[in-house]
Amino acid sequence: MIRLDRVSKSFGSVEALQDVSLTVAAGEFVAIVGASGCGKSTLLRLVAGLVPTTAGRVVLGGTAVTEPRADTAMVFQAATLLPWADVLRNVTFPLRLMRKAKGKMLGDTEARARALLATAGLAGFEHRLPRELSGGMQQRVAICRALLQDPRVLLMDEPFGALDALTREEMSLELLRIWQGREMAVVFVTHSIPEAVLLADRVVVMSPRPGRIAEIIEVGLPRPRSFEQEGSPAFQRAAQRIRALIYGGRVAHAA
Ligand SMILES: Nc1ncnc2c1ncn2[C@@H]1O[C@H](COP(=O)(O)OP(=O)(O)OP(=O)(O)O)[C@@H](O)[C@H]1O
Ligand SMILES: [Mg+2]
Repeated sequence: MIRLDRVSKSFGSVEALQDVSLTVAAGEFVAIVGASGCGKSTLLRLVAGLVPTTAGRVVLGGTAVTEPRADTAMVFQAATLLPWADVLRNVTFPLRLMRKAKGKMLGDTEARARALLATAGLAGFEHRLPRELSGGMQQRVAICRALLQDPRVLLMDEPFGALDALTREEMSLELLRIWQGREMAVVFVTHSIPEAVLLADRVVVMSPRPGRIAEIIEVGLPRPRSFEQEGSPAFQRAAQRIRALIYGGRVAHAA
């Protein structure tokens, strides 16, 4: 579904990514972890078509990514909602933009948006403005907005970073439930090692300066996932391996 083919990205003299190759299958859940500045957000933005590569290519479903695509949705760390639009309009905004561009009617979009909001625990808040919601609720709105596009690729850049620990746990299980019902590839950037292991099929560990893939860990825990699995040997093994890569000093020599 997603293929990065020896991708490099420089910003002036800063090599944000160097020679990164990665394949993500349709319907696969991949997490990316690594020290601050190792190029995680850059990688997502390249896949989203928001920035061009310096070298190498990003291929999505067989075609090279050169601009943002309708089958790809992105969720950022901060909710980035339109402050003047209510929840329902925020969630349907990208689709309304696209349909306007194509001259199509809205159809059942609103009904689907309401159903999705209900799933995210936001029933009854359809006509509230973003400032009337908590940070966690705003982020759930942003996630609903991405899911309503029914993307084949969902890119999430620390989507739960601004949430409290409880909301974060609840949201991560909710995300898994929604993902399980769809054929959607997810690339999920996080600073939390347990979160990466709990959610992902594979965890990509990156090393900084230049940003590279140090190692890819197969998680191999059965699904559906639950927090009870955090105590299991397989979970501990994966988490310890990732920790060793990030903090063990070996990352610097991974190349
Ligand atoms: N638009 C930009 N202009 C110049 N430099 C940039 C730009 N975007 C990223 N960089 C640089 O590229 C490197 C990787 O940045 P990136 O944001 O991808 O890291 P990250 O892994 O997402 O970090 P964090 O965990 O802190 O979010 C950094 O050194 C950063 O300063
Ligand atoms: Mg980042």
